[in-house]
Amino acid sequence: MRLTRSAQAHQDERIAFRRAFLRDVVQGLRRPQKELPCKYFYDERGSALFDQICELDEYYLTRAEMAILRAHAAEMAGRIGADCELIEFGSGSGLKTRLLLDQLREPRAYLPIDIDRGSLERSARELTRRFPGLRVLPIHGDFTAPLVLPRTGDPRARRVVYFPGSTIGNFRPREALALLRRIARLVGAGGGLLLGFDLDKDESIVGPAYNDGRGVTAAFNLNLLARINRELDADFDLGAFVHRAIYVRTRERVEMYLVSQKAQVVRIEGLEFEFQAGEAIRTEYSHKYRLGHFGRLTARAGFSLDRQWLDSQGYSVVQYLTVD
Ligand code: SAH
Ligand code: AVI
Repeated sequence: MRLTRSAQAHQDERIAFRRAFLRDVVQGLRRPQKELPCKYFYDERGSALFDQICELDEYYLTRAEMAILRAHAAEMAGRIGADCELIEFGSGSGLKTRLLLDQLREPRAYLPIDIDRGSLERSARELTRRFPGLRVLPIHGDFTAPLVLPRTGDPRARRVVYFPGSTIGNFRPREALALLRRIARLVGAGGGLLLGFDLDKDESIVGPAYNDGRGVTAAFNLNLLARINRELDADFDLGAFVHRAIYVRTRERVEMYLVSQKAQVVRIEGLEFEFQAGEAIRTEYSHKYRLGHFGRLTARAGFSLDRQWLDSQGYSVVQYLTVD
């Protein structure tokens, strides 16, 4: 059977993705401290679970950032100015984007990037319906990899990256710096970055956000093993791993793990991985920054702080940063 060019491109992309997924899983599980990259949380089920997390009483991050946007999106749009090309990193359901686009003056194009094709296409459709004059050019891919942006036909358009939701906190500070530097290069002189991140705060608030009473975060974490079973030829016993999230004050971050409940062997594509009873796979870091520390990172990446907005409780911050 012959495939059309776009069907063939899709299939090639799926094959390349599976190969990279397998490589990352095998490399991660061969480390002395086993780990899995958190970007693989986001398949159809993982994104749906993340949307449920955003609704949880304990998960203050989304509420705090939405409150900042509701109060200040008009001012943010004013700082960004007219005629920009808005590129969003990790657009997800696009709920926050809507609030920003409601205020933005005549954006030339909106280019959302997400690793989960399902949420990317859904939110692109929804935003196209809501903003009929807007050019929406979705990019399915990994924003940590070299990016090829579609030509918008407007070399003069100023680029602004929108990077909400504290996704930057899922990178170690060194990796966050490298990503910020790439963003600075991507937008170039005169460009901007509208960035939302979570601030350091008491463990009594941070802890429950990652250990919710309904077990949604646990299901989100465990879905990573279910996904490996579904997409790679693997036999993780989902009942033999439990979710653990701890706040490590000295590192100002939440560390998420899946802990093996017994000594066991897991097979992935014919390869064997041994687990001791109590051995943990690290699945995510979620850094909670102090403004000073983050300011040093953005300055080293080549950004100047134009303006920042906090929610009334001082839980999260959105900064508008520019490249001179
Ligand atoms: N921006 C939304 C969603 C945050 S969840 C919000 O603020 O609520 C993180 C999003 O980033 C998910 O949609 C996930 O699929 C995407 N994502 C995570 N790592 C990614 C990567 N390396 N490349 C592209 N998208 C990524
Ligand atoms: C997407 N990211 C910022 C979320 C976070 O809070 O680190 C992912 C998440 N992990 C557990 N709950 C939510």
